[in-house]
Amino acid sequence: MARLFLGIESSCDDTAAAVVSDDRRILSSIVADQASLHAAFGGIVPEIAARAHAEKLDIAVEAALNKACIGTSDIDTVAVTAGPGLIGGVLSGVMCAKGIATGLGRPLLGVNHLAGHALTPRLTDNVAFPYLLLLVSGGHCQLLIVSGPDSFQRLGGTLDDSPGEAFDKTARALGLPGSGGPAVEGEATSGDPERFRFPRPLLDRPDCNMSFSGLKTALVRERNALVSGSGGLSAQDRADLCASFQAAVTEILAVKAARATESYLSLNPRTPVIAVAGGVAANAEIRGGLDAVATRYGLGFVAPPSALCTDNAAMIAWAGIELDRIANTGLVPLVARPRWPLDTSQPALLGSGTKGAKA
Ligand code: KG4
Ligand code: ZN
Repeated sequence: MARLFLGIESSCDDTAAAVVSDDRRILSSIVADQASLHAAFGGIVPEIAARAHAEKLDIAVEAALNKACIGTSDIDTVAVTAGPGLIGGVLSGVMCAKGIATGLGRPLLGVNHLAGHALTPRLTDNVAFPYLLLLVSGGHCQLLIVSGPDSFQRLGGTLDDSPGEAFDKTARALGLPGSGGPAVEGEATSGDPERFRFPRPLLDRPDCNMSFSGLKTALVRERNALVSGSGGLSAQDRADLCASFQAAVTEILAVKAARATESYLSLNPRTPVIAVAGGVAANAEIRGGLDAVATRYGLGFVAPPSALCTDNAAMIAWAGIELDRIANTGLVPLVARPRWPLDTSQPALLGSGTKGAKA
């Protein structure tokens, strides 16, 4: 009989719980966002996020169990995001998961949030190891070879902002309402991607590293020029800025993914695949750019449905299932970790600070 894993995710601003079976069925996936709580602050306030998680986690867990039509005693294992992320939120999730697992007398697994994103293509499409993954989200951007549930080789990544941050900052700079990425993507559909030529830094370098912070600065410069030239932005200006911005991000990701593909193919994978995961992978233009790279090299392309690209707990439950299968290696002592790189063999690319690599 299939075993059921309860997944819990609270590392950023989504409170999520899900029930997933080890035969790859998502019985439920509940995601409660906190957008309205942070809207007035122009970004996520960690303390507000942590309190909201503490209040909403048990409600999310109950909803996940109800939707899956199961009771607590049907849960075989609890898997929880133990990092990286905002430490208050991670702690809220870990404490909730520890309480449930202890109360039920069931095993508890600490999952790396990034591994959750990285292993999603196996949940949705049963992709075989090793595959090339672009993990692209609000906090991260990495090209990885995924060879096992806890085996990741980083080929490159962003040296500064993540694409998600760049989308969010662009939306704010243009006064777009709602969530950054989807708002920019929506505007871009009626825009001209060639009206503005935004920078594509580091494309002349042979490695797989990327940079997105200059892109946002260039966009603000164009916006300011338009405002001072004609007294404001027209709807078309806004759409053209978004489309041109999105085209630059897509090209950077596609060129670097193509470069990573060459390293990946040297491993002679039997069923070579490029997969994409993380919130920004919900973007159709970016998916299209990567799909074209995969086609050019004769590789398969896998992009999970949008709801499984953005933060969710089904990916955490699934990563728990994968870790559980490889006995012991995944069973790290369960402490909440604000920083937790996937590939520990390499130096940090960004934000290493005094406490070690974030990603
Ligand atoms: O993976 P995620 O939900 O959270 C993190 O772990 O960071 O990613 C959130 C990020 C946000 O920056 C959001 O603006 C971006 O993903 N995003 C998108 C789209 N949907 C979400 N970016 C571009 N296009 C989208 N359709
Ligand atoms: Zn995420």
